[in-house]
Amino acid sequence: MKRLLLLTALITLATFSLADARVKVKGRGDKMNFDFDSVDASHRPSMELMTRKCSKCHTMERTVIAIQTGRAPITGQPFDRQAIKAYGIKMLRKPNSDMNKREIREVVILLNYLLEENSK
Ligand code: HEC
Repeated sequence: MKRLLLLTALITLATFSLADARVKVKGRGDKMNFDFDSVDASHRPSMELMTRKCSKCHTMERTVIAIQTGRAPITGQPFDRQAIKAYGIKMLRKPNSDMNKREIREVVILLNYLLEENSK
């Protein structure tokens, strides 16, 4: 009985903390992305831009995990404001990233916003 209670408590806690994350996530694996409905409508165009541009070479899963965990999934480096900026510049330098300065700036601002929302 005690075990069952503990298990119920754990499951409740787990679902609660997931539900509590400010920016929700939809889908799994390759289809994973931020849930557009969980962000303010003013950010939708940037979300669309990011989804279009940042899933050219890899899926959005990488970016979602970096924001959710605060760690870049490949290098394991902290994914903070500084890392977001550095990554933006890195992207800009990649010849085939197909993004201009303005687009990078928009995505960097959006990622900073998502990071902040998630840490609330
Ligand atoms: C030109 C292809 C390309 C595009 C476009 C691209 N990426 Fe990447 N991304 C890569 C490659 C290659 C890696 C593997 C490591 C590296 O080169 O940084 C990577 C790795 C990552 C990582 C993990 C970094 C780490 O250190 O673990 C994140 C997060 C990420 N990308 C986010 C983004 C975001 C956000 C965008 C849109 C601004 C984007 N990517 C667009 C090629 C791309």
